[in-house]
Order: sequence, then C-alpha cells, then structure tokens
Amino acid sequence: MENLKGKRIILGITGSIAAYKAAIIVRLLIKAGAEVQVVMTPAGKEFITPVTLSSLTGKPVVSEFFTANDGTWHSHVDLGLWADAMLIAPATASTIGKMANGIADNMLITCYLSCKAPVFVAPAMDLDMFAHPSTQRNIALLLSYGNHIIEPAVGELASHLHGKGRMEEPEIIVKSLNDYFKRQESFSKKKILITAGPTYEKIDPVRFIGNYSSGKMGFALAEACAQRGAEVVLITGPVSLKTDNPRIHRIDVESAQEMHDAAISVFESVDAAILCAAVADYRPENCAEQKMKRESVGDFTLSLVRNKDIAAALGQKKRSQQILVGFALESHSGLEQALNKMQRKKLDFIVLNSLQDEGAGFKVDTNKVTILEKNGKQTEYDLKSKKEVAADILDCLAGYLL
Ligand code: PMT
Repeated sequence: MENLKGKRIILGITGSIAAYKAAIIVRLLIKAGAEVQVVMTPAGKEFITPVTLSSLTGKPVVSEFFTANDGTWHSHVDLGLWADAMLIAPATASTIGKMANGIADNMLITCYLSCKAPVFVAPAMDLDMFAHPSTQRNIALLLSYGNHIIEPAVGELASHLHGKGRMEEPEIIVKSLNDYFKRQESFSKKKILITAGPTYEKIDPVRFIGNYSSGKMGFALAEACAQRGAEVVLITGPVSLKTDNPRIHRIDVESAQEMHDAAISVFESVDAAILCAAVADYRPENCAEQKMKRESVGDFTLSLVRNKDIAAALGQKKRSQQILVGFALESHSGLEQALNKMQRKKLDFIVLNSLQDEGAGFKVDTNKVTILEKNGKQTEYDLKSKKEVAADILDCLAGYLL
C-alpha cells in the first residue's frame, strides 16, 4: 500500500450497518501512511460514534456545518480542496441519490460537491435497493461525473437476505485507492501524444472527403491522460469538441498530411502516442482551385492517391522506451486485421472496435473494445462510456510506462 503514503483522504461515512467497518478502513489507511479526515452524515453517527473515529484519525470528526456551542463554521470548501481523494464508505442509497442530484443538505454532500479530488464510492444496501432502477440510474450518473464505484459484494446482508449490496471488504476498498494512486503516478511527468477526430481531404474549396469521427474517443483519452497528471499533445482533425484542461496542448489540423507533419514533429519528445484519429487513407490527387461547377464540369472521375500512414511512420521512428498504441476500426475479421495492423505498424498494443457492435465506434458516447497486446494477451471489455473505455486503455498503458 506504498502509494497511499502522505495522501490526504476524506472518509465519508453514512447511515448503514456497514459503518462499523469504517473503523477498519481508517486503520488501514493510517497504517499505509495516509492522513484521514472523517466526515459523517447524522445517520452515520447512529451506527458508529465520532469518538471511535476521531481516536483513530487523531482529528475531530466533521458532521455539522457549525460547532453548536461557539458557532465555528466548518468549511466544506477547504476540506474539498485539501483532499487527494474522497472515499464514501459505506454509501447508502440515500447518499448516492443526493450526490447524483446535488442535494446538499448535509456536510458530507457539500464536501462532495466542493471536492476537486477523485471520489470513490462503496455502496452498501439491501439487494433490492441496490438493484432498483433509481439506484442504478444514480450510480450511472456518478460514473458519468467521473466518480469511481467500488462495486458491492454478493453475500449475506443485514436483512439476512443473500445478494449483491454488501459493502466491499475494507482491505479491497483501501487497495482500490492504492491502485488508483499507483496508476496516477505512472502518468505524472509523462508526455503523451494523442491523435483524434477525422481528417478532411480537399476536393475543391468547398468539398472534401472525410469520415464520421466526432473526436469523442480521442478527447476522452486526452482528458483521462491529463487527469492522471500527464502532459498531453492532442492533434485533432476538424471536430466541434472543446478542450480547457491546462495540461492539454491542442493542435488543430485538417488533412492527413498536416496531422502527419504535426505528429512527426512532436513524437521525438513524447513517452507514448495513442493514435485514435480516423485518418483518411486517400486524398484527391489534385485539389481544384475554384469551386467545381456541375454545369461546366459534368460527370467526372476523382483520382485518389494514398496518404502517409502516420502510425507506421511513428513505428519506424520509435525508440525502444517509447510506447505506441493504435486503434483498429473494423467491419469484419476484426481480431485478424487488428493483429496484422499491430505488427505492421510496430504498435505495443492495439484497441479494436468493431462496426458490428451496436454502441461502438463513430459518434456515439459509448464504445466496446478489445485490447490486443504484442505479448499475445487479449482483453475484451463490455460496452462502456468512452470515458470508461479511456480509463481501461490507460490502465493497460500504465503497465508499459516505466
Ligand atoms: O471519434 P469518435 O466518433 O469518438 O470515434 C472513435 C473512432 C471510431 C474513430 C476510434 O475509436 C477509432 O477506431 N479510431 C481509428 C480509426 C481508424 O482509422 O482505424 P484504422 O483501422 O483505419 O487505422 C489503424 C490505425 O492506424 C489507427 O490507429 C489510425 O489512427 C492509424 N492510421 C490509419 C491511417 C493512416 N493514414 N494513418 C494512421 O495513423
């Protein structure tokens, strides 16, 4: 658990029988060298006393907005900014619902809303409450905010029923945090090049050959790399997406040639490159200087020439410690084609997405990928949001970054 050393953790405790396990979580965090500040909901205090928790953390427990006897205000904003991570364990259905919908009627929720650090949520509730569409919708909302859900385990519940809803064991919860910081550390001080979006290949001043790429997958990767502490160079074709993360240096290009030139010029300085752009393989041999008029031109045949393969060019230039990641968008024989591309372009691993999978590929907010690595490992993932897919890809990349 060496990655928790010196980390500042807010532990939010809510009103569930699993609250007694929060004392073990505190002990494990403190033993790993973390500093812990407990924030409790009023219901949480019914299950475990603040005295137990403050004795373990060495800090007064925060649960009210004001200290009753002298009116001292407890700043949820300062707490939110202080933390390296916030963990809510156990998290009841009620707290998850309030987090999802911004109902800031207690100190824990105000801390959550002010918190800039990553948030981990370990749900604890009865199986039917957990399975209820309302709870599942709220959990999906938390995931969409970038929060991490530590899935509850299947087992005996307080109701004596058996099912999914039991808060995960403290050791596993603390390990999730440790693993998170471990992954983060492999990205800090790293520079990563990402290509995204389509390229446009001009036919004349008003027409082009392009494709349906929206840039969503590449931008999700850029944001995820930046959130993990990397410096990102994002070379993007024409898309309508915005970037405001100061760690992302964006270079807008239009054609495959421009994307190639920009990628070649920065590749030397990066530790890894993720080539997510849907680069046009062909461009018109000639681009008309004036708008082509149907009346004067009539029918015509467009002659196309091959564009440079950016991934293959970077594969040729790659130093032994640089990591090269490609994508493969296939309509058939996906695995075979992706393996072939990985070898031909000298990639360390390739992310296959298939046009045959509903919800995968161009424009949508979701994707379904299989990662094929040069050591022969293949990992197939479920359909997920592009944000979550980006996290899976970066988890794989973390294993390659020195
Ligand atoms: O942008 P979205 O709407 O979110 O859609 C995401 C996506 C479907 C575009 C993305 O997930 C994806 O699959 N990107 C790669 C699409 C593609 O062009 O695949 P490909 O199999 O043709 O290319 C293989 C690899 O070589 C890719 O890494 C590609 O970036 C690279 N390539 C291809 C041609 C070329 N001339 N130069 C390249 O670098």
